[in-house]
Amino acid sequence: MAQTQDPALELAGISKDFLGVRALAGVGLRLFPGEIHALMGQNGAGKSTLIKVLTGVYPADAGTITLHGHPVRPRSPLEAQRLGISTVYQEVNLCPNLSVAENVFAGRYPRRFGAIDWKAMAAQARALLARLNLEIDVTRLLASYPVAVQQMVAIARALSVSARVLVLDEPTSSLDDDEVQRLFGVLRKLRGEGMAILFVTHFLDQVYAVADRITVLRNGALVGEYPVGELPAPALIAAMVGRELAARRSPQQPPAAWERGAAPLLELRGLGRRGVLQPADLAVRPGEIVGLAGLLGSGRTELAQLVFGLQRPDQGQLLLKGQLRQVETPAAAVALGMALLPEDRKTDGIVGELSVRDNIVLALQGRRGVWNQLSAPEQQRLAERFVRALDIRTADVDTPIGLLSGGNQQKALLARWLATQPLLLILDEPTRGIDVAAKQEIMDEIARLAAEGMAVLFISSEVDEVVRVSHRIAVLRDRRKVGELPAGCGEQDVYHLIAEQA
Ligand SMILES: Nc1ncnc2c1ncn2[C@@H]1O[C@H](COP(=O)(O)OP(=O)(O)OP(=O)(O)O)[C@@H](O)[C@H]1O
Ligand SMILES: [Mg+2]
Repeated sequence: MAQTQDPALELAGISKDFLGVRALAGVGLRLFPGEIHALMGQNGAGKSTLIKVLTGVYPADAGTITLHGHPVRPRSPLEAQRLGISTVYQEVNLCPNLSVAENVFAGRYPRRFGAIDWKAMAAQARALLARLNLEIDVTRLLASYPVAVQQMVAIARALSVSARVLVLDEPTSSLDDDEVQRLFGVLRKLRGEGMAILFVTHFLDQVYAVADRITVLRNGALVGEYPVGELPAPALIAAMVGRELAARRSPQQPPAAWERGAAPLLELRGLGRRGVLQPADLAVRPGEIVGLAGLLGSGRTELAQLVFGLQRPDQGQLLLKGQLRQVETPAAAVALGMALLPEDRKTDGIVGELSVRDNIVLALQGRRGVWNQLSAPEQQRLAERFVRALDIRTADVDTPIGLLSGGNQQKALLARWLATQPLLLILDEPTRGIDVAAKQEIMDEIARLAAEGMAVLFISSEVDEVVRVSHRIAVLRDRRKVGELPAGCGEQDVYHLIAEQA
């Protein structure tokens, strides 16, 4: 068993402060060859910071790193890579306007007679991606592929160096079940070859599916290190949160008003676009949460984009409060009272160098126009209210949002759209990267807003979440709506409906 060997990597007494904010306080971590180790903790617990210290992004204020018995102090990710530590960071930091192959080999292009050997590069990139069962054109721009593929490319990049330690910060957040299984297959194979793998996730089931041991952080401190068999899910959650978590709410009950036939707020009549989404009918009433379920690529995001003016429908009609509307741009959608929390927060979302406050008020300001701006104290109040309501962990609202942990950035983005008090809120994967406790709080907040009359379109790859929160579920498959299910249906009903259409 792994523990009889010496650790491949050992961190001891690691501390890190950011301008008075203590991100890590004396944290230790041991990683053995041939193990998959889950690093767990709530949003802001210090997971990414620990990884960045380990991989030379930040220097530690205190503590030691020992790699195969030798003290090391990598000063950059490149140096860490040379030492044999390969990393996929939480923020996919690839170049969208380079090709897939260039991204895989950025900084270490294969050369032949001094010149870059493009042919070899493409061939090697194809071979690496084939290990992940991904067959794509590696000469195309990375940006032309969906987030999930980009994620896989980041992983291929990490695998392209012969590392003995592989670190993955939330690698599965954009992947669907099949892709997760594929990635786990690769990780198990690498484990078999003796690699030490550290892996951060907010999906508890994944921990139990693939990890051998778990290290838990809370508020920048080490809670403990456990063999996975000794830490069942409730104990893991208690270790992360510091208390037992209340039981989950029961499924939604539709408001009584609907039985008397409330008029839809949003109605789609055969709305579609060739190659994007087959004509679909859908109605969402005020106060109703309609879930969109389906596998990755089933057309959920595309449906949201057609409604929100991010793509033009070429057939069908869209009615808002019974009135026929042509929503040609997102700005038009916002003016009509819609809001969309996009799937990809890095490209469509946060403005990293702006403050938490500016990021939160951004959409509301946009809607009010230049002549009707919120005053500084109004902005301050609004931002502080949402920081409290969503428990966004930040020193204050002046902090640049880029300095927040991933999950807390996601909460601030949600706040931006909630602040517009939309009639219709479209949420595309709103709880991606959000920890278990915060997830429940966010879903409660959304249910509360719906109870006040907001209509919600809720997209999530986590079918259990869709089932729990929705009043009604529209199921998509292969860019087609294949049916609807009422509140109270189970996950299995959704999967059956998808499978029936195969
Ligand atoms: N560059 C930075 N400057 C200032 N504060 C930072 C910086 N990076 C991280 N922090 C702070 O350190 C703390 C830990 O953040 P970290 O990103 O490590 O959390 P995490 O456990 O990865 O959370 P998540 O699950 O949300 O990704 C947070 O309070 C965060 O705001
Ligand atoms: Mg993180």
